[in-house]
Amino acid sequence: MKERNPTGESPEKKAAGIAAADLVQDGMVVGLGTGSTTAYTIAELGRRVDEGLDILAVVTSYQSEMLAIQAGITLTSLAEHPNLDLAIDGADQIDKGLNVIKGGGAAHTREKVVSRSAERFVVVADESKYSEQLNHYVPLEVLPYAKEYVSQQVCRIGGKPELRLAARKDGPVITDNGNFVIDASLGVIENPVVIAAILSQLAGVVEHGIFTNVDEVYIGKKDGSVEIM
Ligand code: 5RP
Repeated sequence: MKERNPTGESPEKKAAGIAAADLVQDGMVVGLGTGSTTAYTIAELGRRVDEGLDILAVVTSYQSEMLAIQAGITLTSLAEHPNLDLAIDGADQIDKGLNVIKGGGAAHTREKVVSRSAERFVVVADESKYSEQLNHYVPLEVLPYAKEYVSQQVCRIGGKPELRLAARKDGPVITDNGNFVIDASLGVIENPVVIAAILSQLAGVVEHGIFTNVDEVYIGKKDGSVEIM
């Protein structure tokens, strides 16, 4: 039997994830994000595929690949379908201008490529993720070779770098691309576009977790309602 339900039920995440899945229509090529909120989207799409929904999907991580396969969703790649109709993904923090920080699951590099490849990029989250201004640490995917250099540069711009460790603390997290993640605490991010540009210029940073290309955000509430921003 297919395993569809993400573990650890969250009514808020579930409401947002399922509401965004409603945007998916027959014939679409869809980008599937990573994390516990998009897991609900993937499960819902799998349910609709069983009912006859005809879609193709591009995944953003090993995790979303496994969930999509379990859900019975047919996968494709950006090589075959470089232009996606829609991408749906989670977030670690969202501000009032719909700027978003992602990368809590260390998947933000592929997530950014997928979001930029999509005609429409929709973020799904529970209400705890909303903040007037961004102040969450910014995940940086870095070449292992550049770990010290990038850490020094983060300090130089006034931030605090922390190499992300694996759950068992026996070594660094390794991304699906074979890199490390440095979580850069930068305080309140007054201008996400400017900080994004600075981080993009650091040699050895493959990608940072600031996304400024979000079209809509679906915020799930405890009562099961969803606010669209
Ligand atoms: C992975 C991400 C996730 O989308 C983000 O961390 C949110 O995850 P969740 O839906 O589990 O709260 O950016 O890199």
